[in-house]
Amino acid sequence: MRVFITRKIPDIGLQLLQDAGIEVIEWNERKPLSQPELIEYSKQCDAVISAGYNKIDAFFLNECKHLKVISLHSVGYDNVDVAAATKLKIPVGNTPGVLSGPTADVAFLLMLAASRKAFYLHNKIIKGGWLFFEPTADLGIEIKGKTLGIFGLGNIGYEMAKRCAGAYDMKIIYHNRSHNLRAEKELNAEMVSFEDLLKRSDVLSVHTNLSAETKGKFDKSAFQKMKPSSIFINTARGGIHNEEDLIESLQNGIIWGAGLDVTNPEPMDKDNPLLTMPNVAVLPHIGSATVETRNAMAKIAAENTIAGLNGERLPFPVNPEVYDQT
Ligand code: DGY
Repeated sequence: MRVFITRKIPDIGLQLLQDAGIEVIEWNERKPLSQPELIEYSKQCDAVISAGYNKIDAFFLNECKHLKVISLHSVGYDNVDVAAATKLKIPVGNTPGVLSGPTADVAFLLMLAASRKAFYLHNKIIKGGWLFFEPTADLGIEIKGKTLGIFGLGNIGYEMAKRCAGAYDMKIIYHNRSHNLRAEKELNAEMVSFEDLLKRSDVLSVHTNLSAETKGKFDKSAFQKMKPSSIFINTARGGIHNEEDLIESLQNGIIWGAGLDVTNPEPMDKDNPLLTMPNVAVLPHIGSATVETRNAMAKIAAENTIAGLNGERLPFPVNPEVYDQT
């Protein structure tokens, strides 16, 4: 059995595959893998571990019908046409749970960095701009006691809410399809309409999947309903916000600041105006990038792969329906 891995994963995952007698082909070029290359390598293998954004669409799947499993080195699966995979009876696995805390840490970090202009001021020092003490310059805003709005209160949203309630006594409101009873009980979180979330949040943090329903949800009209003093945080997927609208809203003072770990598109262009705005902090999609979390993700990705190649149920299937089909 042979697996194609689209970008090097931590050794713990490679070791598990090796111990299971699976041959590994890895993409190690210092450039993105093209779609024809993805198809070409996948055709030579029985499984794919997709690390990073690879387009696993209907075309790819039809070209690679033979795959016994597609294992994602991520919790998000918006890059996969899950319905098409299910139709072809290809199980798709992901890595839920293990990256919730670290991703929430990044949301929290971006909230503070934006509120205190941290990245901008760091760059100001590099450019020789720290000249003297100015009591009225570079002022940020405080978070304590303010309202945190969570769009999509699942595991990551819960971790962000817990950090904000604990550290800054923030009032938690959220918008979800269903109630999060744990957050309501433990954090006194209040479920609100999308309109209310926009109107009431001082910090609005996005923690939902990218889907047809959430794509471009934070656009001009959404930002216009937010407070001029508010901060928008997105650590989920860049496609959930309209970046042109976000830039314009920040430039025109419609909202106060933003913190992004995900951009639209990725990678972000080095000349993007967001990178030089004082009240904005941007990171290159590092939510899960800790040694501990990436090891845990590699382990799950390998375990999903081994199970799929053995014809067993994946420990973490995205499309468990494949097992219901006759
Ligand atoms: C995930 O796991 O979905 C992270 O965003 C990394 O892609």
